[in-house]
Amino acid sequence: MDGNGRWAKKRALPRAVGHQRGVEAVRRLVRALAPTGLECLTLYAFSSENWKRPDEEVDDLMNLMRRFIRSDLPEFVANNVKLKIIGDWQSLAPDIVAMLEDALAQTANGTQTLAVALNYGGQHEIARAAAKASAAGGGISIETIAAHLDTADLPPLDLLIRTSGEVRLSNFLLWQAAYAEMLFVDTLWPDFEPAHLTRALDDFARRERRYGGR
Ligand code: FPP
Repeated sequence: MDGNGRWAKKRALPRAVGHQRGVEAVRRLVRALAPTGLECLTLYAFSSENWKRPDEEVDDLMNLMRRFIRSDLPEFVANNVKLKIIGDWQSLAPDIVAMLEDALAQTANGTQTLAVALNYGGQHEIARAAAKASAAGGGISIETIAAHLDTADLPPLDLLIRTSGEVRLSNFLLWQAAYAEMLFVDTLWPDFEPAHLTRALDDFARRERRYGGR
């Protein structure tokens, strides 16, 4: 969800407003999820590297998360959206952890998954999965690592979209992206509308996937 800062800067607004508008883009997308038929939408909300940002911005992002869960949880439940959190989220502030645990429990029966990456880094995830695989005694292989990833219970990643014109993965779903289709769009995240997602899915439907075959 890249480009909140630049969206705000273009309008001479504080970065916090860009992040607020970013949350509104999330809300619009979640509301438009049902007709897409997507099994899972994963959003990169806070990376393990985002702690390097000024304290004030980190606080703003954590507060937006608190407010978002509080305000939108009833809607998730009503619309059968199942929340999933990936990343090292258990080490976030205790009140956020408690709030997320409650949200996970309340949405457990949902049919479409909204996965939110919080305190997430792809390299950390792979290292944690390898350590768990090793501790479980089954040896380290593609299968045992995959079985211990945060995303082990999610469908395979088909399409990865990055907004704001940046063309890199920034430590997002590195393992899962092995054969994912990539789409890089110039749209800044706060401007991302459900129509952009529909266009991205149309683009994806035209891709020919060979997984290394021919
Ligand atoms: C990247 O934009 C965005 C983030 C680091 C935070 C994304 C978080 C939200 C949209 C809000 C919280 C999410 C939820 C699910 C409630 P940037 O700040 O790096 O923008 P820039 O590259 O233009 O400076």
